[in-house]
Amino acid sequence: MKKALVISGTSTIGMELIKQMQQDYEDIIVTGRNQKKLEALQQQFPQIQTIPLDVTQNPRLVLEENENLWKDLDFVLLCAGAGEINPSLEPEIEEHVIQVNVNGCGAILRYFVRLFWKKDKGHIAVITSLAGMMPNGDAAGYGASKAFLSHYIAAIRMQLKKEKSHVTLTDIRPGLVDTPMAKGEKLFWVAPVEKAAKQIYAQLRRKKERIIVTKRWKVLYIICRILPLDH
Ligand SMILES: NC(=O)c1ccc[n+]([C@@H]2O[C@H](COP(=O)([O-])OP(=O)(O)OC[C@H]3O[C@@H](n4cnc5c(N)ncnc54)[C@H](OP(=O)(O)O)[C@@H]3O)[C@@H](O)[C@H]2O)c1
Repeated sequence: MKKALVISGTSTIGMELIKQMQQDYEDIIVTGRNQKKLEALQQQFPQIQTIPLDVTQNPRLVLEENENLWKDLDFVLLCAGAGEINPSLEPEIEEHVIQVNVNGCGAILRYFVRLFWKKDKGHIAVITSLAGMMPNGDAAGYGASKAFLSHYIAAIRMQLKKEKSHVTLTDIRPGLVDTPMAKGEKLFWVAPVEKAAKQIYAQLRRKKERIIVTKRWKVLYIICRILPLDH
């Protein structure tokens, strides 16, 4: 029986991915910071188990308290993310974004890498963003915090490979997807959630290390890789 954990599975993209995951995982555990949303999710998917988890509130402690649940875990999907348009760098907003995307997500990624490393198997996927490749003054904290996560994943993957580990790390970098997270004016190429989730999941099944969605956003990804961006 295959078992998966979705961190912040109450997210718009996360919920769509849980639908896709039904075909492969009999046992799915979902965390979320909002109890009402978790209850609604459980009504939609009665077989899932839910755990409250705010990634800014000592997530490692919550994961350690539930360590029995992770013994036979095959796959972890990390969907949590915070992002705001904040051109004037309001400190509370920047600090919150960094707290969620860097400290919170970083701690969860680290916890499961170390756990899977010991077992020498497992797959961890993190939703970062193409925003991590393009400096944007209107949302500096968001882009920088996603760049941290992508860099962290790449560096940890390098270490895993050096140790000849069989753990797979996937960095999912969406372009714009039609969810509350897509903020700002003059948005373009905004993809429907179902389309993005389908493309993500097809590539997760193939255990790809880097996933860019939707397909048209790969153009921007290639441009970002060619341009000598100074960062
Ligand atoms: N939509 C886009 O255009 C886009 C593009 C690139 C990357 N992404 C990334 O995709 C992921 C999913 O986002 P989405 O587009 O599906 O938007 P969303 O529905 O707003 O999802 C964001 C998720 O993060 C959770 N979250 C925020 N703060 C948290 C905290 N302190 N503790 C635990 N969970 C927390 C939210 O919980 P609640 O459900 O309780 O609000 C929500 O589930 C995010 O990492 C986002 O950065 C999105």
